[in-house]
Amino acid sequence: MYNISNRRYTGSKYKLLDWIEELILENCPGESFFDVFAGTGTVTDRMKKHYRKVIMNDFLYSNEIIYKAFYGKEGFERERLEKYRAGFQALDPEKLEENYFSENFGDKFFSRKDALLIGEIREELEALKGVLSDREYCILIASLIYSMDKVANTVGHYEAYRRTGELEDRFVFELIRPEEPSDKVEIYREDANQLVRKVKADIAFIDPPYNSRQYSRFYHVLENVVQWKKPVLTGTALKPPVENMSDYCRNKAPEVFADLIENIDVKYIIVTYNNTYHSKSSSSRNKITLEEIKEILSRRGATEVYEKKHPSFNAGKTDFDDHKEYVFITKAGAAGGG
Ligand SMILES: C[S@@+](CC[C@H](N)C(=O)[O-])C[C@H]1O[C@@H](n2cnc3c(N)ncnc32)[C@H](O)[C@@H]1O
Repeated sequence: MYNISNRRYTGSKYKLLDWIEELILENCPGESFFDVFAGTGTVTDRMKKHYRKVIMNDFLYSNEIIYKAFYGKEGFERERLEKYRAGFQALDPEKLEENYFSENFGDKFFSRKDALLIGEIREELEALKGVLSDREYCILIASLIYSMDKVANTVGHYEAYRRTGELEDRFVFELIRPEEPSDKVEIYREDANQLVRKVKADIAFIDPPYNSRQYSRFYHVLENVVQWKKPVLTGTALKPPVENMSDYCRNKAPEVFADLIENIDVKYIIVTYNNTYHSKSSSSRNKITLEEIKEILSRRGATEVYEKKHPSFNAGKTDFDDHKEYVFITKAGAAGGG
């Protein structure tokens, strides 16, 4: 069974959770926690036991359905989920007809047989929408996402597939481990700058993208499977038409970040930042500088900066020796702000 962090995701804070949790608990008292760019959801997953109320948001469809699957308010029948798991595992790819998924992704991101299975299961889930509860539907789709992501022929995102000759058949449909129904977690799929104008919390955790690599393009295969609108795909990476492009990945990033910080209604603002992707290639260069972050945050209140060497720091392999993770903590309205 999959836990929420059993996923490969660019910028996941999984390896930094101990440090982040400790800093927040030590410096930011409060009863509600707002994960504004929640990504995999792994930070919420670690932090939620400390709060009465948690809000999580990300503008990707695949992330939203994963949050609803793990933390939904609605109940689900375990036996029913098990029945589908067994049925999907018993499917014989030799007997399946070509489908949208196998036609596009077979022998590329997945072996042909694995792609046939993934497309078939997705079609079956679409047909089951009226039979399953909304929560059960989300759980089964999220299970498909985790199961396919585990065997994808990629380095962890879908910008390209590896050209390694014949692909092995590796796909096995396994379930995620959903939590019991609860009202604690509120889930949104909105543009962060719009959402901060509507919600209020004690503590906000802010972990936006900082370079020009768009998450909706990196994870387009997952977005495609979740939405299942079967668009015409183009290019060698078989991408759908453009959607959900983030301003945080563009030159106006400092402006949108300043707008977010100005409008967020919380007592403590926690911002993460790293220079891990800093390099000579312009697509991986950060769109906002450390100094800009600090200056923007200081307008809202006294700001402390904490830093740590990145856990995957690998001396000798890089052209600079300064990979660092930063956590900024701002006490909104406190002396020091402008
Ligand atoms: C660095 S990742 C967050 C990683 C997360 N903290 C984790 O540990 O998995 C940034 C996230 O912001 C989302 N995102 C980018 N621009 C956004 C926007 N304008 N509104 C909402 N979400 C956005 C991306 O989809 C991505 O998942």
